[in-house]
Amino acid sequence: MLPPGPRAPALWQTYRFVTSPASFTRAIHRRYGDVVGLNTLVGKGVAVLEAGLAREVFAAPPETFATVPVLESIFGPNAVISVSGEPHRKLRKLLNPRFHGAQVKGFLSAMQRAVRTHLEGLGRVAGRGDSLALTDVTQAMALDVIIETVFGAGEVDRDAARAALREIIHAFSPVLAGGGTLHKAWFPPWRRFVRAQDAFDRLIGDVVSARRARGPRAVEGEDVLGVLLSARYDDGAPMSDVEIRDQLLTLLLAGHETSATAMAWCIYHLLRHPVALERLRSEIDALGDAPAPDALTKLRYLDAVVSETLRIEPIVTDVLRLCREPFTLGGRWTVPKGGLVAVLLVAILRDPRVFDEPGEFKPERFLEKKFSASEFLPFGGGARRCLGVAFAEAELAIAVAEIVSRWELELASEAPERSVRRNLTMGPKGGVRVRVRGRRRREPERRAS
Ligand code: HEM
Repeated sequence: MLPPGPRAPALWQTYRFVTSPASFTRAIHRRYGDVVGLNTLVGKGVAVLEAGLAREVFAAPPETFATVPVLESIFGPNAVISVSGEPHRKLRKLLNPRFHGAQVKGFLSAMQRAVRTHLEGLGRVAGRGDSLALTDVTQAMALDVIIETVFGAGEVDRDAARAALREIIHAFSPVLAGGGTLHKAWFPPWRRFVRAQDAFDRLIGDVVSARRARGPRAVEGEDVLGVLLSARYDDGAPMSDVEIRDQLLTLLLAGHETSATAMAWCIYHLLRHPVALERLRSEIDALGDAPAPDALTKLRYLDAVVSETLRIEPIVTDVLRLCREPFTLGGRWTVPKGGLVAVLLVAILRDPRVFDEPGEFKPERFLEKKFSASEFLPFGGGARRCLGVAFAEAELAIAVAEIVSRWELELASEAPERSVRRNLTMGPKGGVRVRVRGRRRREPERRAS
């Protein structure tokens, strides 16, 4: 039996879920409690709004669940984010080692280079008084970081890759996020999205053939493409071209908009909390003039600032699973085969029973207390937990440190930013508009002058 929940038609519940997940979540939480019956275009099932229940979902055997079909039509049928069961286990086994903390270290310098190059562009607008959308800067930065790490020094035309990915993102209208109902050739936004996918496929096809043509040594690169080309399943088989294409699209898309949005939110909250900003700057300044990227990833307050940002502004508000067999939750509710289980990260990350004053930006909470994996879950959980956690955390630490320690920015408006749906993820409605006052002079320089 499913728990009580809103009686509104599936279309309306889906619309609310997609367009205003935070307020929909608050409303159903208040009315129905920690587990709520849902009826959406993706299926009927339960919404989970409490950490202990989320733990039950994430601890269930991975074969209990499949992903939702919408992911397959976006990323492709072979992508790690789309497949389930044994194919998913095999792919994660192959990809996980490449994205572990120790391996990500190999990418840190490339991340720092890409971040610095983009930030130099701020010099051109410094002191002019006109504002810019910080998300434009962080998007471009995160796109270059992921392109660098995926393709390395390879022969990809970077401008073409940037353009192809930007077009895919722009073409992904929020109306496509609600389910496959509108993924039809007669629907113009879907047609535009498919055209963008085709252009990306042509680009990737050329890159893969060129890399293979250069022989086995070129295939075994240090970059992610090299890893995919040289990877072998347990039976010794390589990945096919279509499998490689689907993983690349997933990594390039999942791996840059999320991080870019988080960077912008992080700076937004720091600019609204000068005490936190000063504390962070002191921590970074203590590393000297040119901190190594590795040292930045070990700073505790910086890590707390990033965690608090991901908590207060969840970029992915929910993770969805479809039951491949009946699933019982809380010893009481049974979701039938084919039913939906939606873990509402946004509810759990703002649960006052776990996070004191959940609406306040308080990075110290992460220094004072250790939260469990099912309490602090901006990256989801279980067998499908985000593949890029270590990558994203390192990238965020480096980008935020480079921005706040080298630049003086101010918010162009006092009005609070609102989080709105961009595609599958959420982001700041106004793009965090800032004015660049100039380069920052560090404490000792200020005292000397
Ligand atoms: C702040 C940045 C990021 C956030 C908040 C984030 C969040 C998430 C979430 C919530 C999921 C779904 C997990 C689940 O279903 O339980 C996910 C999946 C995934 N993410 Fe991330 N992500 C971020 C950055 C990245 C980066 C940088 C990469 C790649 C370099 C990446 C690659 C992936 C992949 C491949 C999946 C699918 C995993 C699977 O289904 O097995 N993400 N991410």
